[in-house]
Amino acid sequence: MTQPIAVVGAGLVGAGWAIVFARSGYPVRIYDGDADIRANVLAGIRANLDDLQSFELIESADATLEHITVCDILEEAVDGVSYVQESVFETIPVKSEITAALDAVCGPDVVIGSSSSGIPASAFTEGLKGRNRCLIAHPVNPPYLVPLVELVPALWTDPSAVQFAHDLMTAVGQSPIHITREVEGFVLNRLQGALLNEAWALFEEGYASAEDIDKTVSEGLGLRWSFMGPFETIDLNAPGGVADYAARLAPLYHSVAQSRTTPKPWGSKLIGDVEQERRTHLSEQELASRREWRDRRLMALAAHKNKARKAIGD
Ligand SMILES: NC(=O)c1ccc[n+]([C@@H]2O[C@H](COP(=O)([O-])OP(=O)(O)OC[C@H]3O[C@@H](n4cnc5c(N)ncnc54)[C@H](O)[C@@H]3O)[C@@H](O)[C@H]2O)c1
Repeated sequence: MTQPIAVVGAGLVGAGWAIVFARSGYPVRIYDGDADIRANVLAGIRANLDDLQSFELIESADATLEHITVCDILEEAVDGVSYVQESVFETIPVKSEITAALDAVCGPDVVIGSSSSGIPASAFTEGLKGRNRCLIAHPVNPPYLVPLVELVPALWTDPSAVQFAHDLMTAVGQSPIHITREVEGFVLNRLQGALLNEAWALFEEGYASAEDIDKTVSEGLGLRWSFMGPFETIDLNAPGGVADYAARLAPLYHSVAQSRTTPKPWGSKLIGDVEQERRTHLSEQELASRREWRDRRLMALAAHKNKARKAIGD
């Protein structure tokens, strides 16, 4: 019998994690400190599962939901589990308190992964007896549609805990990557930040509208990025591969990089200007329905990628 998994913190990301584990057949125990969240989380998950079923990304919403139990107390949620996916608020005090509580109630072999987007494990696990079983397992939202998980150990994380998280994430269909040591923003948000910082700067300097900068990704770079990364992209974009590409274009990229030696904060006027342009395309009231649209586009993409993999034997 597969050992259960605990999801602690059942907001946006925790609820998404519950789907990831449950659709692979793991019994999932959810705990959240907020009674209202505990009362409503299954209804939200149910709606997401119905969508997934309609895109043929799961066989049965009913069967998947049966794997998920909501618990009123933490001890009940972690009883007999092999792994805990912590997904509480992104502050050091909250992460410290819940991780200390988990360390106290979990058996010694239980691995504790945190969904932290940027706070490294060393900031909230140093004083714990079981700090060697703690690491970051940072997902992308929603984790049941975007499979990447960044595994980031603290200096004291046992390699076996990282290996356990890697094997579990692979078993449930996620795509783990290993970050060898802690770095602010990990890899995903450093890459995203580089692109965003350049986007803000180009907009501020009046080179293009926010719409056209967005289009550069949605109609350009992003099409390849849904199935290959920047290194593979350039490897294929010169006849002789990556070294050939570098020989042709490295001076251009170096010159561009040198033009941005002093990064500026995103100023309030700049943010206001982008906000104004965005609201002409999408009103504040339409944000929620557009998020639902985004998730359905992601489901259609996931369904397409599954079919394409089978069709071309990938
Ligand atoms: N939202 C994203 O796009 C995203 C993506 C990747 C990672 N993350 C990370 O995932 C984590 C959760 O983010 P979210 O967006 O789901 O936030 P959220 O506010 O939707 O959910 C957090 C949940 O944690 C619960 N909680 C807070 N303190 C608790 C405690 N002590 N014990 C039990 N439950 C507690 C809250 O009641 C809430 O339901 C954060 O670390 C965040 O940085 C978020």
